[in-house]
Amino acid sequence: MSWRLLHTAILCERTRLAEFQTLGRTSVIKLQRVLPIMSIALIILAAGKGTRMKSDLPKVLHEIAGAPMLVHAMKSGATLEPEKTIVVAGHGAEHVSKASAGYDETAEVVLQTEQLGTAHAVGQAKDTLAGFAGDALVLYGDTPFISPETLSRMIDARAGHDVIVLGFEAADPGRYGRLLMQGDSLSKIVEFKDATDEERAITLCNSGVICAKSDVLFDLIDAVGNDNASGEYYLTDIVEIAQQKGLSATSVTCDESETLGVNSRVQLAEADAIFQTKARHALMESGVTLHAPDTVYLSHDTHIGPDTIVEPNVVFGPAVTIENGAHIRAFSHLEGCHVSRGAVVGPYARLRPGAELAEFTKVGNFVEIKNAVIDENAKVNHLTYVGDAHVGARANIGAGTVTCNYDGVMKHHTEIGADSFIGSGTLLVAPVSVGSNAMTGSGSVITQSVPDDALAIGRARQANKPGLAVKLFDMLKKKKLDKQKGEA
Ligand code: UD1
Ligand code: CA
Repeated sequence: MSWRLLHTAILCERTRLAEFQTLGRTSVIKLQRVLPIMSIALIILAAGKGTRMKSDLPKVLHEIAGAPMLVHAMKSGATLEPEKTIVVAGHGAEHVSKASAGYDETAEVVLQTEQLGTAHAVGQAKDTLAGFAGDALVLYGDTPFISPETLSRMIDARAGHDVIVLGFEAADPGRYGRLLMQGDSLSKIVEFKDATDEERAITLCNSGVICAKSDVLFDLIDAVGNDNASGEYYLTDIVEIAQQKGLSATSVTCDESETLGVNSRVQLAEADAIFQTKARHALMESGVTLHAPDTVYLSHDTHIGPDTIVEPNVVFGPAVTIENGAHIRAFSHLEGCHVSRGAVVGPYARLRPGAELAEFTKVGNFVEIKNAVIDENAKVNHLTYVGDAHVGARANIGAGTVTCNYDGVMKHHTEIGADSFIGSGTLLVAPVSVGSNAMTGSGSVITQSVPDDALAIGRARQANKPGLAVKLFDMLKKKKLDKQKGEA
């Protein structure tokens, strides 16, 4: 096969992989490899403190759409199916390690105890990558939006050059490093602090993302010094060093929106807003109706099927899957749950982790569901808490029902049978079960299991006292009058 053909085939495969990236890591479909692809190692820089965040949390752990920025960067890099992923941690390394493992437990974390510059940071991955024959791609943990497609183009550009730098045309180049191009060739990156006025006029800027053959990258880094305006070891210096060694460098460019880095809470909010706009558009394009898109908050992994309607002011926390043709009504809050076809949720419903709604279920206003399976066509319509429970098909849970799942120490299960009817205001003291076709009387406190087909009433018997209400009213009115006289 000619190089051209091989190259095209690789490109196609990477694009297909990129398309699956938005589905989240767990659903990334591992495509059968037909052709060998150059193996890749990701090096993700995440050692910085992020002083301007004014936070105890390391910068890369601040979240966009429910996932740390670090995870967004890892997720993007993961579409290249890297053989190794190395996270360079420093400030809050323990927490960074945990977040990294939470997304990819095979990712290795190396420590940079002192932040001496980006070249020094990448250098910390040298031992881990000793003997690795593929390409190394450097990403920043605080730059969450580099698209899989852009990364693929960088890898593809390696066919013609030794070092690839991701650049972008900056509307306001500010303090970014500037790319000095000579035709197709990148001759040098100059940091803002070290740049001449003429160089500062250049608008093609460095995103920080760099790719080179792993052993070449570390050779170049070994030659980097810190004799510059910041006294730091600049990764950007490897470009000029590569030229001196007779290697070639070039830049691949992407849209500035992808290279957006986060340095402050304001920028974090801006980045989140950019993510939300994109994700809402993608949902609508895929067939989901959003009545007031700007008021719907999505997570990085929200999945909603076509023909589902989402009303205004709905929050999707992490790990929510909604099937086709569901209806999520206004002011509902969902996280860690699964809603099946045709179900109706809200308004003002709260679905917490482990809520599993089968087809055509109804969960209405001021209802909270946690760690509970609601079978098809069951209804939980008003003012109810269902936690650690199973509700059978077609059951009707009356207003104000509470599964009393917690005894102060442990959680217990409630089982509610198919076709049962739970009267309003029933307290189900778990562990307890109600059989199928069974009923509970309104206001019952159910502490013993109810057999199939039975009616359970667990409340004090009512007693009517004739004429006693009028006497009571008179007595109370007199008391009030006496009190007012006393105060006068
Ligand atoms: C860097 C680039 C600059 C580019 C800009 C894009 C260098 C010398 N400069 O500048 O050309 O335009 O990014 O945003 O590379 N980090 C470590 N350890 C360190 C130093 C940095 O892990 O010792 C991490 C930081 O946490 C951050 C990233 O590397 O995620 C970039 O470092 P930062 O100090 O923000 O670089 P810039 O000065 O912005
Ligand atoms: Ca920066």
